[in-house]
Amino acid sequence: MVLEDISIGYNTVLASEISARVHPGEVIAVLGPSGIGKTTLIRTIAGLVEPIDGDVELNVEKRGGLGYIPQKLGLVRHASVYHNVNLGARASLPVIKGGSEERKKRVNSALVALNIEEKTTEPVRRLSGGQLRRVATARALAQRPKLLLADEFLSELDHNTVDVVIDAVKELLDAGASIIMVEHHEENVELLATRVWLIEGEKLLDYSIEEWRNRVGEEE
Ligand SMILES: Nc1ncnc2c1ncn2[C@@H]1O[C@H](COP(=O)(O)OP(=O)(O)OP(=O)(O)O)[C@@H](O)[C@H]1O
Ligand SMILES: [Mg+2]
Repeated sequence: MVLEDISIGYNTVLASEISARVHPGEVIAVLGPSGIGKTTLIRTIAGLVEPIDGDVELNVEKRGGLGYIPQKLGLVRHASVYHNVNLGARASLPVIKGGSEERKKRVNSALVALNIEEKTTEPVRRLSGGQLRRVATARALAQRPKLLLADEFLSELDHNTVDVVIDAVKELLDAGASIIMVEHHEENVELLATRVWLIEGEKLLDYSIEEWRNRVGEEE
């Protein structure tokens, strides 16, 4: 994925002169204060918002190559957990091409990996905040994307559940995917990230994890 000198925003520019790339296996943590434009950056990469300037080059398959866990989750609330996770599997394995056994396998293994298999038949609207987040993550994992955009997917989870989710996501990384995750918590950055993109003063600052640790160390 390549960002070529892009500017992001809506009617006004939130951040500009953003050039960066993501290699397979990398995990980018996007940091910055509330309202700075982290979700807007993710939505711009996802193609849901046009960049004001510049180009986003995805280099992933059109069908299913790009996974997205939105900050607001975007689940079908009246439908079951299974139905929602199956939407992910269907994104990369369309019904029209058969493959129902493979979809079932992917859905079930995502539900087990996220430790929500006992909620399989529940309507999503009955779930807790952390359970909802895990359903959205399971949906993305069942898709097996090459690039996963994850907007605060570790929020509302206790430490043990964060570990469960991270283990599940590591399987995706082992398969050669990369992740861009928006995060507020330094301890979660340390668990997964290989680079940090900090949005500050309308610019994107790109750090290796070592450079980032040095910066954090100097500030303390
Ligand atoms: N569709 C939209 N049209 C116009 N402005 C928007 C739209 N969506 C978001 N904004 C504005 O863009 C700014 C950045 O929002 P964004 O959601 O990207 O912030 P964020 O960094 O993700 O914040 P948070 O950490 O609170 O999630 C905010 O001022 C917000 O009100
Ligand atoms: Mg946001």
